[in-house]
Amino acid sequence: MARLLIVSNRMPVTIFKENGNYNFQQSAGGLATGLKSFLKHQEKLPDFKLEYLWVGWPGITVNDKKEADVLKKRLHKLNYWPVFLSETEMENFYHGFCNRTIWPLFHYFTSYVEYEKDFWLDFKKVNRIFSEALLEIIREDDTIWIHDYHLMLLPQLIRERFPKVRIGFFLHIPFPTFEIFRLLPGEWRQEILCGILGSDLIGFHTNDYTQYFLRCALRILGLEHDMGRIMLEDRLVQVETFPMGIDFQSFYESAKGALVKKERARLKKEFKKTKTILSIDRLDYSKGILNRLQGFELFLEQNPDWREKTQLVMVVVPSRAGVTHYLRTKKQIDETVGKINGKYATLTWTPILYQFRSLAFPSLVALYSQCQVALVTPLRDGMNLVAKEYVASKSADAGVLILSEKAGAAEELGEAIVINPFYIEEIAAAIKEALEIPQDEQLKRLKAMQGRLRRYDIFRWAKDFLLHLNLIKETQKKVVTRILDGYRESLLVHYRKAKKRLIYLDYDGTLVPIVKHYSQAAPDQEILKLLKNLSARQNNQLVIVTGRDRKTISDWIKVENCSFIAEHGAWIKERNNDWVQTKTLDAEWKGQILSILDTYSDRLPGSFIEEKEFSLTWHFRNADPELGMLRAKELMDYLISFTANKDLQVLQGKKVVEIRNAGINKGLAAAHWLAKKEFDFILAAGDDWTDEDLFKVLPETAYSIKVGISSSLARFNVINYKEIRKLLEEFDKK
Ligand code: UDP
Ligand code: G6P
Repeated sequence: MARLLIVSNRMPVTIFKENGNYNFQQSAGGLATGLKSFLKHQEKLPDFKLEYLWVGWPGITVNDKKEADVLKKRLHKLNYWPVFLSETEMENFYHGFCNRTIWPLFHYFTSYVEYEKDFWLDFKKVNRIFSEALLEIIREDDTIWIHDYHLMLLPQLIRERFPKVRIGFFLHIPFPTFEIFRLLPGEWRQEILCGILGSDLIGFHTNDYTQYFLRCALRILGLEHDMGRIMLEDRLVQVETFPMGIDFQSFYESAKGALVKKERARLKKEFKKTKTILSIDRLDYSKGILNRLQGFELFLEQNPDWREKTQLVMVVVPSRAGVTHYLRTKKQIDETVGKINGKYATLTWTPILYQFRSLAFPSLVALYSQCQVALVTPLRDGMNLVAKEYVASKSADAGVLILSEKAGAAEELGEAIVINPFYIEEIAAAIKEALEIPQDEQLKRLKAMQGRLRRYDIFRWAKDFLLHLNLIKETQKKVVTRILDGYRESLLVHYRKAKKRLIYLDYDGTLVPIVKHYSQAAPDQEILKLLKNLSARQNNQLVIVTGRDRKTISDWIKVENCSFIAEHGAWIKERNNDWVQTKTLDAEWKGQILSILDTYSDRLPGSFIEEKEFSLTWHFRNADPELGMLRAKELMDYLISFTANKDLQVLQGKKVVEIRNAGINKGLAAAHWLAKKEFDFILAAGDDWTDEDLFKVLPETAYSIKVGISSSLARFNVINYKEIRKLLEEFDKK
């Protein structure tokens, strides 16, 4: 059976030691609770019959090897695969980089962010430790689903060892805007993006996070996307939005069920005189617990009539006690609760009932279903499942959800009272409104939200993600079937047997890599030697087909017997003869166009002009990528209308806009050799749109090769220029 490997820092169980014994406890937090319910009811995903294994950190350091082995065995029985880490690793990785750098940054608490080199180094180290643990168990046909910000480098680490394996990555916290993300040092931000991009599918909770990620990929790595698809050198990657759901049915049914009934009856008795407002979160400054308390205090102050008639039931679940800001938040919460209770409590009424502990599922559902209002006010939250669980638990009663617009869940729960959690007045007003909404209105709103949560529950979410992962793998395969690998042998046999061979080779991106400035792409000794050797053979006709000017290309490639097509077909040079113009061309237009390009170059720092005899190229590879695209589009529009009555072509290529005379292209120039009809082996390789003209004119039996994996008229694709060199080396050996 196919396997699903779930990988997260936090396992669904956390181990703790008590009186010398190791005990297992349910882990808190949306990732663990959500995914666990999905795995528990796999029968709800009949299309995905998967054997699963959950790889993660069990929450404790165990130094004794024997003890660790015993724990491993216990966990293996539950399908969990623990990754043990040392105290220092955990300190720098988990408390450090994850929770003192990434967590505050991605939640927009920029002043809390700590920039420590050792944190970063241990973050890299622990990601490596996870990859090593995985490499021991991975099989080629596994699906690996990596979760959350702790393991952002892991996809690429696995990809390096298993280029074809199926990898999905899901981020459970917000992905911040470019401005925030780039507060990370350059090396960190690049490695994090590249790490995530090792996946085939990357998922976020909301469309905003998806767009922010894509923008960072463009701004930082220069990677463009088409409908969320990024074409890397070796792979197509899909970036998509999947709002995480909950096990709706379980909350809905349990709220009515026997287990919860008893607890509800107890709560009913307890709260018979008051309307209850529920607040449940992990202890976290991002949850806005203090603002919530201040909002409740203001509400009591502004509405004396509601005193003694309402109570805030507040559960704070212990979390990340090793991080200063969490300890400080705890202290502030304790003090504020004390202050409010001290100020307003009476002998028979306490405004805030506060517990600092975690709850078992029945107690949690009883609270959800019993409380009249849920007050969920995070200052920033990737999704917030508590809000969804509250709505789902309202199977028997009415209730009102007050929800922060800064939570991902707000996008799906529009019928809630949506507030800005930073404005205390708004929280106080929302509490009053919630307590006074008529019951039928409450039910109407709940029903609408429940419908949505029922449809897109945790099973649908997981299925959707895994289906998309399969789909992108299929799409990749379609691209890969065109890869030359499978045909290499027959091509080489054909080459060896042929009496006369014609080989067209584009230059930039095909024989040498694309560089920052066009003048820096001179050939190295390796490629020159290869070209010399191949051209020296009597039965080979090599033609370098380039957009470059004739002087540059012939100065760079001083190879006897080699032929050339320069300036996209304006010039040809056959073997050791002189250059010949293919068509009478006019260059008078250049002056006018140059002055337009000059203006654009001045407006876009980093862009520059390349002038050739019969063409002009405006390069913007080194400019700001977004502004570059915008200006290029403007320039194209302008030039197309400006040149409407002229015999010119305006074309946009790889980070260039090119203006040249009409009626020339690589294909027309290449016809010069094809017309001889003396070749029984023809091959052409090129990497961009100008080479498509060449591919178009080749006979069916020719081998046309596109460098890169985007679509093309060519019969085959290869990943990059190195593959072309390899092929030429093999020709050289024949
Ligand atoms: N939760 C828990 N123990 C508790 C109270 C709540 O495990 O005592 C669960 C709750 O049911 C929810 C999760 O913790 O599924 C919290 O997820 P959420 O997305 O709201 O916030 P996170 O803690 O992940 O930031
Ligand atoms: C959030 C994160 C999870 C994390 C959870 C609990 O939900 O997205 O990755 O597991 O909080 O935090 P902890 O630090 O205890 O794992």
